[in-house]
Amino acid sequence: MVGSTKVQFEKKFFFEQSSVAKIEDVVVDSRRRNHKIGQNMIKEVVSWIRREATTQGGSLVDKKLYKVIVMCGEDLQCFYNRNGFETRNVAMSQLI
Ligand SMILES: CC(C)(COP(=O)(O)OP(=O)(O)OC[C@H]1O[C@@H](n2cnc3c(N)ncnc32)[C@H](O)[C@@H]1OP(=O)(O)O)[C@@H](O)C(=O)NCCC(=O)NCCS
Repeated sequence: MVGSTKVQFEKKFFFEQSSVAKIEDVVVDSRRRNHKIGQNMIKEVVSWIRREATTQGGSLVDKKLYKVIVMCGEDLQCFYNRNGFETRNVAMSQLI
């Protein structure tokens, strides 16, 4: 295995109970970076989400899914911008 990621789906109370997909824990083996593995992984996972959300009978994803999000550090904004994501909103957090 050279890389992995996961997707979580969250149902919202607003927007008619539609869902959001969250891509998390994106990682590529440090010895294999900069060979577009990360880019291909993101493309594949977004395609899969889109396909499942729009195909009749697609099983895993809520049909009312309306966006895919990923949280990342500022340094990775360019990486995600190049892979079809735009910067919207600001993440707020409080350490415990
Ligand atoms: C981010 C990550 C998944 C990218 O995987 P990858 O296979 O190397 O990605 P790609 O080869 O498709 O793209 C590499 C590009 O991303 C850029 N990049 C990767 N990590 C970066 C970082 N932390 N800051 C700035 N740019 C970064 C590289 O400079 C390269 O840019 P270039 O195409 O202009 O040369 C990988 O670097 C990684 O596992 N990082 C550690 C875990 C992490 O930060 N995950 C992201 C959580 S949101």
